[in-house]
Amino acid sequence: MTILVTGGAGYIGTHTCIELIKAGYDIVVVDNFSNSKPEALERVCEITGHNIISYKTDIQNKQELEKIFSQHNIEAVIHFAGLKAVGESVQLPLTYYQTNIMSTLTLCEVMKKYDVKNLVFSSSATVYGATDQVPILEESPLNPVNPYGRTKHMIEEVLRDLVKSDNNWSIALLRYFNPVGAHESGEIGEDPTGIPNNLMPYISQVAVGKLESLQVFGADYKTVDGTGVRDYIHVVDLAQGHIKALEKIIDTNGIEAYNLGTGNGYSVLQVISAFEKVSGIKIPYSIGERRPGDAALCYADVSKAKEDLKWGARKGIEDMCQDSWRWQRKYPNGYSQKSIKIYSN
Ligand code: NAD
Ligand code: WQD
Repeated sequence: MTILVTGGAGYIGTHTCIELIKAGYDIVVVDNFSNSKPEALERVCEITGHNIISYKTDIQNKQELEKIFSQHNIEAVIHFAGLKAVGESVQLPLTYYQTNIMSTLTLCEVMKKYDVKNLVFSSSATVYGATDQVPILEESPLNPVNPYGRTKHMIEEVLRDLVKSDNNWSIALLRYFNPVGAHESGEIGEDPTGIPNNLMPYISQVAVGKLESLQVFGADYKTVDGTGVRDYIHVVDLAQGHIKALEKIIDTNGIEAYNLGTGNGYSVLQVISAFEKVSGIKIPYSIGERRPGDAALCYADVSKAKEDLKWGARKGIEDMCQDSWRWQRKYPNGYSQKSIKIYSN
């Protein structure tokens, strides 16, 4: 069975490509490489020993997308492609609405034309907004607080309308919590552009000496130690969740949202301490102001995914830190060969 993976060269996409290949699927990747490098897919080929058919295409380009659908017998789509930086979305709302929403509309139009009605969509826990009602259930109120989160919410609504209009569609909305970690080979991982916004890549870059010190955003929350608590999930567990969701949608019709997290929350200080333990490196940090828009606590109720998808996360916080660290240490400058040379001089 052939699966189209949009955004398949990205962080979660590459890890999912590996799991798809391992599960016996044929894959076709479409990515415009706006936030990734072709080298990431080359590494997936090396890890799996399989070639990957990939197209450098913007999925807003309907004609190009149609060509791909006409050339391959695609039976389902996993849709990762999109922009994902919360802060940038506040600065560039039109770019975010245009890219995330228009590309999804174009994709769905082409899928409809080619009668491909199985879709796994990358949503986000960000659709719940800054709630402190934890654990978060799929039925919890949706109240995204930034343009990025609103694009995910709006797309979810579009997809619900699509299913209402034609019950042959089968769609899984996967709401990821905080994906971290990397493939255990250390060959692929998260490769943020510029200074990372997210905690784990920031800590990793401090550990490898690229950044001096971490600023902890607030230590006066009502949490175990005052710092923000999140549901970090290993990217390989997350990737495996996509395989389970795919199996489910192929067998059923309709639309369902699933939280993909571990169900456990860790504070910023607990993550620092786990990272220090596995790396043996002290992470210098200082306590700063709260970051606007941050919730104190955010972790998932994962019982729906467990029951319906027969999926649960297996890896713990130390595995997540260990694997993030292995990738960062092996490739301090990510996929950029040029920078690696500069670094090793
Ligand atoms: P990523 O940026 O690493 O991957 C996205 C990929 O999509 C990139 O390779 C990029 O080049 C590609 N892309 C972007 N716009 C495109 C377009 N118009 N046409 C073709 N390709 C395009 O991001 P990721 O972390 O792998 O996230 C994947 C998906 O999961 C995104 O939709 C993101 O919003 C969602 N998500 C991510 C997180 C997270 O923390 N990483 C959390 C929740 C949800
Ligand atoms: C985690 C914790 C920070 C950086 C984001 C998006 C969300 C989703 C996942 C896409 C918080 C603290 C962080 C730092 C810190 N992405 N922190 N110092 O904000 O939970 O979620 O990524 O869908 O939409 O908002 O993740 O990694 O930025 O923060 O103290 O330098 O670490 O305050 O408590 P977040 P994060």
